[in-house]
Amino acid sequence: MKVGVVGLGYVGLVTAAVLADKGNEVVGIDVSADRINDLNSHNLPIFEPELENRIQSAGSRLMFSTDYSYLADCSGVFICVPTPNNESGIDLSFVVAASREVSEIAPGSALIIKSTVIPGTARFIGKLTGMAVISNPEFTREGSAVHDTEHPDRIVIGGDNPDICNELWKFTGSPVIITTNENAELIKYASNAFLATKITFINQIADLCEKIPGADVKTVALGMGLDHRIGKEFLKAGLGYGGSCFPKDTIAINSFAKSKDVNLGIVDSVIRYNSERINQLVEKIVKIAGNLNGKNVCVLGLSFKDNTDDLRESRSIALIENLSKRGARIFAYDPVVKRYNGIIHMRNVEECMEKCNIVITATEWEEFSRIDPSLFKGKMVFDLRRILSINASDIAMGVGIGKD
Ligand code: UGA
Repeated sequence: MKVGVVGLGYVGLVTAAVLADKGNEVVGIDVSADRINDLNSHNLPIFEPELENRIQSAGSRLMFSTDYSYLADCSGVFICVPTPNNESGIDLSFVVAASREVSEIAPGSALIIKSTVIPGTARFIGKLTGMAVISNPEFTREGSAVHDTEHPDRIVIGGDNPDICNELWKFTGSPVIITTNENAELIKYASNAFLATKITFINQIADLCEKIPGADVKTVALGMGLDHRIGKEFLKAGLGYGGSCFPKDTIAINSFAKSKDVNLGIVDSVIRYNSERINQLVEKIVKIAGNLNGKNVCVLGLSFKDNTDDLRESRSIALIENLSKRGARIFAYDPVVKRYNGIIHMRNVEECMEKCNIVITATEWEEFSRIDPSLFKGKMVFDLRRILSINASDIAMGVGIGKD
């Protein structure tokens, strides 16, 4: 099949690469000429495991351009452009602009919306463009986006003409839900809001564990998670959720619900707790380490989570900003991110720790679990991601560890 993908960020680029790798002819469109030049010179603009392999194996079946006219004979075009927040919740202007462009070039194709959009958007875009609009939300995580796209837990397809989408994703063998556009749109938000709630819940249980000598949130989460009704995923306590999706989507669904006179009280309190989380953790650090003014602090990890170079809404960056405001001098190491203003980048963990008496884990990179425990001797260690292989008695504070 010949398909188009508009918007070549994490979602669009992975969708394009996977569909081309599976034998489809794919045209990737982006408004950024720099991004297209990079892609055409085989420079990947993002770090995502397996992505380069899929692009290479797709070969000439995958092309990139800024020119929408290449979409002319596509059977379907995926819309994968951003949907940032604005004062009223969500800014749909990129979705509207991209859909309009597609409708002028390929009015007979199916418009498949992958961008996260509030319920009612697909119907609105259908009226605006006169095209058949399919909602096909994605549930992929950055850092494992290729794997998640090829092996999704489910495929959700909303709209009156699901066939093309069904056919494209058939290779996954995953369960398919064919439903209305509105259900598909809401499934995405409800899923993200629920996952953000799960993270917030375990962070609050971690707060409680810290007040109970002998308690450890990791064991509590394990004991909870083995109950299949609860599930063990997304029960890792830490710095709160970050990234380009959860913070934005929880706010969008909350505002949308308010506009319908519905109070999503749980989501409301999740948003509030998460926004206070970093300051709450820094206060705990200060209580133990004292005034941070003039002190060297080693921060391990910069990206918003492991296996990605994405810094959007990174909790590590929020942490660094908070520590810096208190006068701390930040030395940081991240396996992938090598550039961020206002901090001193170190080449490896050892170098980074050498300069500082205070060490904080901020991103859950697996590499940090292999740090030799002897390196921590004499340091004040704050394991905010519970990633270190070190005895609880040897750290100043671990999220969710109760101490006397
Ligand atoms: C999230 C969802 O997991 C995907 O299903 C969804 O498709 C995507 O948003 C989206 O809407 O496009 P992503 O933002 O890539 O994916 O990242 P997650 O793996 O969900 O992590 C989000 C944040 O929660 C990170 O800051 C992570 O460190 C934190 N987290 C995650 C925890 O603190 N504890 C956990 O147990 C899990």
